[in-house]
Amino acid sequence: MSWKIRVVLLIGFVAWAYRPFRPPPPPRLCGTKGGPPVVGPRIQLRDGRNLSYKEHGVPKEAAKYKVILVHGFSSSKHEASITATDLVEKLGIYFVSFDRPGYGESDPDPKRTIKSLALDIEELGLQLQLGAKFYIIGISMGGQAVWGCLKYIPHRVKGAALLAPVVNYWWPSFPPALATEAYHLQPVQDQWALRVARHAPWLVYWWNTQKWFPGSSVAAGTQNFTAPDLQIIAKMAASGVSHKAYATQQGVHESYHRDMMVGFGHRDLDPMQLEDPFPHGEGSVHLWHGTDDGVVPVSLQRYIAEELPWVQYHELPNAGHLFSCGETAVKDAILSKLLMADKMVH
Ligand SMILES: *[C@@H]1O[C@H](CO)[C@@H](O)[C@H](O)[C@H]1NC(C)=O
Ligand SMILES: *[C@@H]1O[C@H](CO)[C@@H](O)[C@H](O)[C@H]1NC(C)=O
Repeated sequence: MSWKIRVVLLIGFVAWAYRPFRPPPPPRLCGTKGGPPVVGPRIQLRDGRNLSYKEHGVPKEAAKYKVILVHGFSSSKHEASITATDLVEKLGIYFVSFDRPGYGESDPDPKRTIKSLALDIEELGLQLQLGAKFYIIGISMGGQAVWGCLKYIPHRVKGAALLAPVVNYWWPSFPPALATEAYHLQPVQDQWALRVARHAPWLVYWWNTQKWFPGSSVAAGTQNFTAPDLQIIAKMAASGVSHKAYATQQGVHESYHRDMMVGFGHRDLDPMQLEDPFPHGEGSVHLWHGTDDGVVPVSLQRYIAEELPWVQYHELPNAGHLFSCGETAVKDAILSKLLMADKMVH
Protein backbone atom coordinates (compact mmCIF):
# COMPACT_ATOMS: atom_id res chain seq x y z
CA MET A 1 0.00 0.00 0.00
CA SER A 2 1.46 3.35 -0.98
CA TRP A 3 1.99 6.06 1.61
CA LYS A 4 -0.65 8.20 -0.09
CA ILE A 5 -3.33 5.57 0.37
CA ARG A 6 -2.19 5.19 3.98
CA VAL A 7 -2.61 8.95 4.49
CA VAL A 8 -6.15 8.76 3.09
CA LEU A 9 -6.99 5.92 5.44
CA LEU A 10 -5.35 7.65 8.40
CA ILE A 11 -7.29 10.87 7.81
CA GLY A 12 -10.38 8.73 7.48
CA PHE A 13 -9.70 7.10 10.81
CA VAL A 14 -9.07 10.42 12.57
CA ALA A 15 -12.21 11.87 10.98
CA TRP A 16 -14.17 8.89 12.24
CA ALA A 17 -12.64 8.96 15.70
CA TYR A 18 -13.33 12.66 16.20
CA ARG A 19 -16.75 12.50 14.59
CA PRO A 20 -16.59 15.53 12.35
CA PHE A 21 -17.39 12.81 9.86
CA ARG A 22 -21.00 13.21 8.83
CA PRO A 23 -22.76 10.54 6.85
CA PRO A 24 -24.36 11.97 3.74
CA PRO A 25 -27.87 13.30 4.39
CA PRO A 26 -30.55 11.36 2.51
CA PRO A 27 -31.33 12.82 -0.91
CA ARG A 28 -34.36 15.12 -1.20
CA LEU A 29 -36.35 13.03 -3.64
CA CYS A 30 -38.31 14.78 -6.37
CA GLY A 31 -42.03 14.73 -5.91
CA THR A 32 -41.89 13.91 -2.19
CA LYS A 33 -42.82 16.24 0.67
CA GLY A 34 -40.11 18.86 1.03
CA GLY A 35 -38.40 17.74 -2.18
CA PRO A 36 -38.24 19.53 -5.52
CA PRO A 37 -41.27 19.12 -7.82
CA VAL A 38 -41.40 16.76 -10.78
CA VAL A 39 -41.75 19.06 -13.79
CA GLY A 40 -40.50 17.12 -16.82
CA PRO A 41 -41.56 13.72 -18.15
CA ARG A 42 -40.09 10.58 -16.55
CA ILE A 43 -40.03 6.89 -17.31
CA GLN A 44 -40.07 4.25 -14.61
CA LEU A 45 -37.18 1.79 -14.73
CA ARG A 46 -36.94 -1.93 -13.94
CA ASP A 47 -36.27 -1.32 -10.22
CA GLY A 48 -38.93 1.38 -9.73
CA ARG A 49 -36.58 4.34 -10.12
CA ASN A 50 -37.77 7.19 -12.31
CA LEU A 51 -35.60 8.69 -15.01
CA SER A 52 -36.34 12.22 -16.20
CA TYR A 53 -35.77 13.14 -19.83
CA LYS A 54 -36.03 16.04 -22.25
CA GLU A 55 -36.48 15.99 -26.02
CA HIS A 56 -34.69 18.28 -28.49
CA GLY A 57 -34.41 18.73 -32.24
CA VAL A 58 -37.03 17.55 -34.70
CA PRO A 59 -40.07 15.54 -33.50
CA LYS A 60 -39.33 11.86 -32.99
CA GLU A 61 -41.90 10.73 -35.58
CA ALA A 62 -40.31 12.87 -38.29
CA ALA A 63 -36.70 12.14 -37.41
CA LYS A 64 -34.20 10.40 -39.62
CA TYR A 65 -31.69 9.99 -36.79
CA LYS A 66 -32.36 9.33 -33.09
CA VAL A 67 -29.69 10.20 -30.56
CA ILE A 68 -29.43 9.76 -26.79
CA LEU A 69 -27.32 12.43 -25.08
CA VAL A 70 -25.45 11.67 -21.84
CA HIS A 71 -24.47 14.70 -19.78
CA GLY A 72 -21.30 15.27 -17.82
CA PHE A 73 -20.40 15.88 -14.19
CA SER A 74 -22.34 18.76 -12.55
CA SER A 75 -24.61 19.01 -15.58
CA SER A 76 -28.12 17.74 -16.43
CA LYS A 77 -30.60 16.99 -19.21
CA HIS A 78 -30.77 20.74 -19.82
CA GLU A 79 -27.22 20.74 -21.19
CA ALA A 80 -27.82 20.11 -24.88
CA SER A 81 -25.63 22.70 -26.60
CA ILE A 82 -24.74 20.19 -29.27
CA THR A 83 -28.33 20.42 -30.55
CA ALA A 84 -28.05 24.16 -31.18
CA THR A 85 -27.18 24.12 -34.87
CA ASP A 86 -29.15 24.37 -38.14
CA LEU A 87 -27.78 20.98 -39.11
CA VAL A 88 -30.31 19.39 -36.73
CA GLU A 89 -33.27 20.50 -38.86
CA LYS A 90 -31.40 19.90 -42.08
CA LEU A 91 -30.52 16.29 -41.30
CA GLY A 92 -33.65 15.58 -39.24
CA ILE A 93 -32.14 14.70 -35.87
CA TYR A 94 -34.14 13.92 -32.74
CA PHE A 95 -32.28 14.02 -29.43
CA VAL A 96 -33.28 12.91 -25.99
CA SER A 97 -31.21 13.87 -22.97
CA PHE A 98 -31.86 12.59 -19.46
CA ASP A 99 -30.82 13.39 -15.92
CA ARG A 100 -28.39 10.73 -14.84
CA PRO A 101 -29.52 9.01 -11.58
CA GLY A 102 -29.40 11.39 -8.60
CA TYR A 103 -29.20 14.47 -10.85
CA GLY A 104 -32.09 16.87 -11.52
CA GLU A 105 -35.39 15.02 -11.45
CA SER A 106 -34.10 11.45 -11.73
CA ASP A 107 -34.28 9.22 -8.68
CA PRO A 108 -30.91 8.40 -7.11
CA ASP A 109 -29.39 4.98 -7.58
CA PRO A 110 -27.15 4.21 -4.61
CA LYS A 111 -26.32 0.89 -6.30
CA ARG A 112 -25.24 2.62 -9.48
CA THR A 113 -22.49 1.02 -11.57
CA ILE A 114 -21.21 1.54 -15.09
CA LYS A 115 -23.39 -1.39 -16.13
CA SER A 116 -26.57 -0.15 -14.42
CA LEU A 117 -26.30 3.18 -16.21
CA ALA A 118 -25.92 1.38 -19.55
CA LEU A 119 -29.07 -0.61 -18.75
CA ASP A 120 -30.90 2.63 -17.82
CA ILE A 121 -29.97 4.00 -21.24
CA GLU A 122 -31.18 0.83 -22.95
CA GLU A 123 -34.51 1.10 -21.14
CA LEU A 124 -34.85 4.75 -22.07
CA GLY A 125 -34.41 3.81 -25.72
CA LEU A 126 -36.94 0.97 -25.48
CA GLN A 127 -39.59 2.91 -23.57
CA LEU A 128 -39.34 5.91 -25.87
CA GLN A 129 -39.48 3.53 -28.84
CA LEU A 130 -36.31 4.75 -30.50
CA GLY A 131 -36.04 1.47 -32.41
CA ALA A 132 -33.71 -1.48 -31.95
CA LYS A 133 -30.65 0.78 -32.20
CA PHE A 134 -29.92 4.43 -31.50
CA TYR A 135 -26.97 6.80 -31.66
CA ILE A 136 -25.35 7.91 -28.44
CA ILE A 137 -23.29 10.98 -27.59
CA GLY A 138 -21.62 11.37 -24.20
CA ILE A 139 -19.88 14.46 -22.90
CA SER A 140 -17.08 14.32 -20.30
CA MET A 141 -18.31 11.98 -17.53
CA GLY A 142 -21.11 11.05 -19.94
CA GLY A 143 -18.37 9.80 -22.29
CA GLN A 144 -17.45 7.22 -19.70
CA ALA A 145 -21.09 6.10 -19.83
CA VAL A 146 -20.70 5.62 -23.59
CA TRP A 147 -17.78 3.23 -23.04
CA GLY A 148 -20.16 1.42 -20.66
CA CYS A 149 -22.80 1.18 -23.41
CA LEU A 150 -20.25 -0.21 -25.87
CA LYS A 151 -19.39 -2.84 -23.30
CA TYR A 152 -22.83 -3.77 -21.96
CA ILE A 153 -25.39 -2.85 -24.65
CA PRO A 154 -23.44 -2.78 -27.95
CA HIS A 155 -26.43 -4.39 -29.72
CA ARG A 156 -28.43 -1.21 -29.05
CA VAL A 157 -25.84 1.21 -30.40
CA LYS A 158 -25.93 2.41 -33.98
CA GLY A 159 -22.98 4.75 -33.59
CA ALA A 160 -21.27 6.58 -30.73
CA ALA A 161 -19.44 9.83 -30.09
CA LEU A 162 -17.38 10.46 -26.96
CA LEU A 163 -16.66 14.16 -26.41
CA ALA A 164 -13.76 14.84 -24.03
CA PRO A 165 -14.61 11.63 -22.16
CA VAL A 166 -13.32 11.34 -18.61
CA VAL A 167 -10.55 8.78 -18.20
CA ASN A 168 -9.96 6.72 -15.11
CA TYR A 169 -6.24 6.87 -14.32
CA TRP A 170 -6.53 3.37 -12.83
CA TRP A 171 -7.68 1.61 -15.99
CA PRO A 172 -5.32 -1.37 -15.99
CA SER A 173 -4.33 -1.07 -19.66
CA PHE A 174 -2.65 2.33 -19.21
CA PRO A 175 1.12 2.08 -18.92
CA PRO A 176 1.69 3.07 -15.28
CA ALA A 177 4.29 5.75 -16.08
CA LEU A 178 1.99 7.48 -18.58
CA ALA A 179 -1.00 7.38 -16.22
CA THR A 180 1.09 8.71 -13.33
CA GLU A 181 2.46 11.56 -15.40
CA ALA A 182 -1.05 12.56 -16.51
CA TYR A 183 -2.38 12.21 -12.96
CA HIS A 184 0.18 14.69 -11.70
CA LEU A 185 -0.99 17.29 -14.24
CA GLN A 186 -4.08 17.71 -12.12
CA PRO A 187 -4.34 20.16 -9.25
CA VAL A 188 -3.06 18.52 -6.05
CA GLN A 189 -6.47 18.80 -4.37
CA ASP A 190 -7.98 16.70 -7.17
CA GLN A 191 -5.27 14.07 -6.93
CA TRP A 192 -6.32 13.64 -3.30
CA ALA A 193 -10.06 13.75 -4.03
CA LEU A 194 -9.64 10.98 -6.61
CA ARG A 195 -7.57 8.85 -4.24
CA VAL A 196 -10.38 9.13 -1.72
CA ALA A 197 -13.04 8.26 -4.33
CA ARG A 198 -11.04 5.21 -5.31
CA HIS A 199 -9.75 3.91 -2.00
CA ALA A 200 -12.17 5.21 0.63
CA PRO A 201 -15.55 5.90 -1.00
CA TRP A 202 -17.23 6.02 2.44
CA LEU A 203 -15.19 9.17 3.09
CA VAL A 204 -16.13 10.99 -0.12
CA TYR A 205 -19.00 12.99 1.34
CA TRP A 206 -17.01 14.27 4.29
CA TRP A 207 -13.88 14.94 2.20
CA ASN A 208 -15.76 17.11 -0.27
CA THR A 209 -17.95 19.00 2.20
CA GLN A 210 -15.55 19.70 5.13
CA LYS A 211 -13.97 23.14 5.39
CA TRP A 212 -10.45 22.31 6.65
CA PHE A 213 -8.85 21.77 3.24
CA PRO A 214 -10.08 21.90 -0.38
CA GLY A 215 -11.93 18.88 -1.77
CA SER A 216 -12.43 18.17 -5.48
CA SER A 217 -12.07 21.32 -7.57
CA VAL A 218 -14.37 19.77 -10.14
CA ALA A 219 -17.13 19.33 -7.54
CA ALA A 220 -16.49 22.91 -6.38
CA GLY A 221 -16.71 24.17 -9.98
CA THR A 222 -13.18 25.61 -9.88
CA GLN A 223 -11.49 23.07 -12.12
CA ASN A 224 -8.52 23.77 -14.35
CA PHE A 225 -10.26 25.37 -17.31
CA THR A 226 -7.82 26.58 -19.96
CA ALA A 227 -8.18 29.74 -22.08
CA PRO A 228 -10.53 28.30 -24.75
CA ASP A 229 -12.87 27.01 -22.02
CA LEU A 230 -12.89 30.34 -20.21
CA GLN A 231 -14.09 32.00 -23.41
CA ILE A 232 -16.93 29.50 -23.77
CA ILE A 233 -17.85 29.90 -20.09
CA ALA A 234 -17.98 33.69 -20.47
CA LYS A 235 -20.31 33.34 -23.46
CA MET A 236 -22.57 30.92 -21.62
CA ALA A 237 -22.65 33.22 -18.57
CA ALA A 238 -23.63 36.13 -20.82
CA SER A 239 -26.58 34.09 -22.11
CA GLY A 240 -27.83 34.14 -18.52
CA VAL A 241 -29.10 30.56 -18.39
CA SER A 242 -27.68 28.34 -15.67
CA HIS A 243 -28.97 24.96 -14.57
CA LYS A 244 -26.30 24.35 -11.96
CA ALA A 245 -28.67 24.43 -9.00
CA TYR A 246 -31.05 22.09 -10.83
CA ALA A 247 -28.34 19.44 -11.25
CA THR A 248 -27.87 18.98 -7.49
CA GLN A 249 -31.35 19.89 -6.25
CA GLN A 250 -31.65 16.48 -4.58
CA GLY A 251 -28.23 16.79 -2.90
CA VAL A 252 -24.59 16.48 -3.94
CA HIS A 253 -24.02 12.97 -2.70
CA GLU A 254 -26.06 10.88 -5.13
CA SER A 255 -25.11 13.17 -8.01
CA TYR A 256 -21.53 14.48 -7.79
CA HIS A 257 -20.12 12.09 -5.25
CA ARG A 258 -21.69 8.97 -6.74
CA ASP A 259 -20.20 10.06 -10.08
CA MET A 260 -16.73 10.21 -8.54
CA MET A 261 -17.11 6.84 -6.83
CA VAL A 262 -18.33 5.14 -10.02
CA GLY A 263 -16.02 6.97 -12.40
CA PHE A 264 -12.80 6.40 -10.47
CA GLY A 265 -13.61 3.53 -8.14
CA HIS A 266 -15.46 0.85 -10.04
CA ARG A 267 -13.34 -1.78 -11.68
CA ASP A 268 -15.82 -3.16 -14.19
CA LEU A 269 -14.56 -1.20 -17.18
CA ASP A 270 -11.34 -0.85 -19.12
CA PRO A 271 -12.14 0.62 -22.56
CA MET A 272 -8.85 -0.60 -23.97
CA GLN A 273 -10.10 -4.18 -23.51
CA LEU A 274 -13.29 -3.61 -25.50
CA GLU A 275 -13.97 -5.42 -28.74
CA ASP A 276 -14.92 -3.55 -31.89
CA PRO A 277 -18.71 -3.17 -31.53
CA PHE A 278 -19.06 -2.88 -35.33
CA PRO A 279 -16.83 -5.60 -36.82
CA HIS A 280 -18.73 -5.40 -40.13
CA GLY A 281 -18.58 -1.62 -40.37
CA GLU A 282 -22.28 -1.26 -39.51
CA GLY A 283 -21.57 1.72 -37.30
CA SER A 284 -18.73 3.91 -36.08
CA VAL A 285 -17.25 5.16 -32.81
CA HIS A 286 -15.74 8.65 -32.65
CA LEU A 287 -13.66 10.16 -29.88
CA TRP A 288 -13.07 13.92 -29.84
CA HIS A 289 -10.57 15.61 -27.57
CA GLY A 290 -9.00 19.06 -27.30
CA THR A 291 -5.25 19.51 -27.09
CA ASP A 292 -5.74 22.13 -24.35
CA ASP A 293 -8.05 20.13 -22.12
CA GLY A 294 -7.01 20.97 -18.54
CA VAL A 295 -9.50 18.56 -16.97
CA VAL A 296 -8.84 15.31 -18.88
CA PRO A 297 -5.25 14.89 -20.14
CA VAL A 298 -4.95 14.50 -23.90
CA SER A 299 -1.99 12.12 -23.49
CA LEU A 300 -4.24 9.36 -22.13
CA GLN A 301 -6.87 9.89 -24.80
CA ARG A 302 -4.16 9.51 -27.47
CA TYR A 303 -3.08 6.27 -25.88
CA ILE A 304 -6.64 4.90 -25.91
CA ALA A 305 -7.01 5.88 -29.56
CA GLU A 306 -3.79 4.07 -30.45
CA GLU A 307 -4.91 0.93 -28.64
CA LEU A 308 -8.32 0.88 -30.30
CA PRO A 309 -7.94 1.09 -34.08
CA TRP A 310 -11.75 0.92 -34.49
CA VAL A 311 -12.13 4.27 -32.71
CA GLN A 312 -11.94 7.27 -35.03
CA TYR A 313 -9.95 9.81 -33.07
CA HIS A 314 -10.40 13.52 -33.79
CA GLU A 315 -8.08 15.88 -31.97
CA LEU A 316 -9.06 19.54 -31.87
CA PRO A 317 -6.12 21.95 -31.74
CA ASN A 318 -6.47 24.83 -29.25
CA ALA A 319 -9.65 23.35 -27.79
CA GLY A 320 -10.30 22.76 -24.10
CA HIS A 321 -12.74 20.52 -22.26
CA LEU A 322 -15.94 22.34 -23.26
CA PHE A 323 -15.62 22.45 -27.06
CA SER A 324 -19.01 20.79 -27.53
CA CYS A 325 -20.63 23.93 -26.06
CA GLY A 326 -18.60 26.23 -28.33
CA GLU A 327 -18.50 26.92 -32.04
CA THR A 328 -21.24 25.69 -34.35
CA ALA A 329 -18.65 24.39 -36.83
CA VAL A 330 -17.38 21.93 -34.22
CA LYS A 331 -20.91 20.72 -33.41
CA ASP A 332 -21.60 20.24 -37.12
CA ALA A 333 -18.39 18.28 -37.58
CA ILE A 334 -19.26 16.01 -34.66
CA LEU A 335 -22.82 15.36 -35.82
CA SER A 336 -21.99 14.83 -39.47
CA LYS A 337 -19.08 12.46 -38.75
CA LEU A 338 -21.27 10.42 -36.44
CA LEU A 339 -24.48 10.32 -38.46
CA MET A 340 -23.26 10.43 -42.02
CA ALA A 341 -20.33 8.07 -41.59
CA ASP A 342 -21.71 5.59 -44.15
CA LYS A 343 -22.24 8.21 -46.81
CA MET A 344 -18.75 9.57 -46.40
CA VAL A 345 -17.17 6.19 -46.77
CA HIS A 346 -19.14 5.10 -49.86
C1 LIG B 1 -41.29 6.79 -9.20
O1 LIG B 1 -42.49 7.52 -9.38
C2 LIG B 1 -43.63 6.84 -8.91
C3 LIG B 1 -44.87 7.62 -9.31
O2 LIG B 1 -44.60 8.96 -9.54
C4 LIG B 1 -43.53 6.67 -7.41
O3 LIG B 1 -44.65 5.99 -6.91
C5 LIG B 1 -42.25 5.88 -7.09
O4 LIG B 1 -42.09 5.79 -5.69
C6 LIG B 1 -41.05 6.54 -7.72
N1 LIG B 1 -39.88 5.70 -7.51
C7 LIG B 1 -38.93 5.95 -6.62
C8 LIG B 1 -37.83 4.96 -6.54
O5 LIG B 1 -38.94 6.95 -5.92
C1 LIG C 1 -4.04 22.81 -16.27
O1 LIG C 1 -4.03 22.03 -17.46
C2 LIG C 1 -2.90 22.25 -18.29
C3 LIG C 1 -3.11 21.47 -19.58
O2 LIG C 1 -3.25 20.10 -19.33
C4 LIG C 1 -1.64 21.80 -17.54
O3 LIG C 1 -0.51 22.02 -18.33
C5 LIG C 1 -1.54 22.57 -16.24
O4 LIG C 1 -0.47 22.08 -15.49
C6 LIG C 1 -2.82 22.46 -15.42
N1 LIG C 1 -2.75 23.35 -14.28
C7 LIG C 1 -3.07 22.96 -13.05
C8 LIG C 1 -3.01 24.01 -11.99
O5 LIG C 1 -3.39 21.84 -12.79
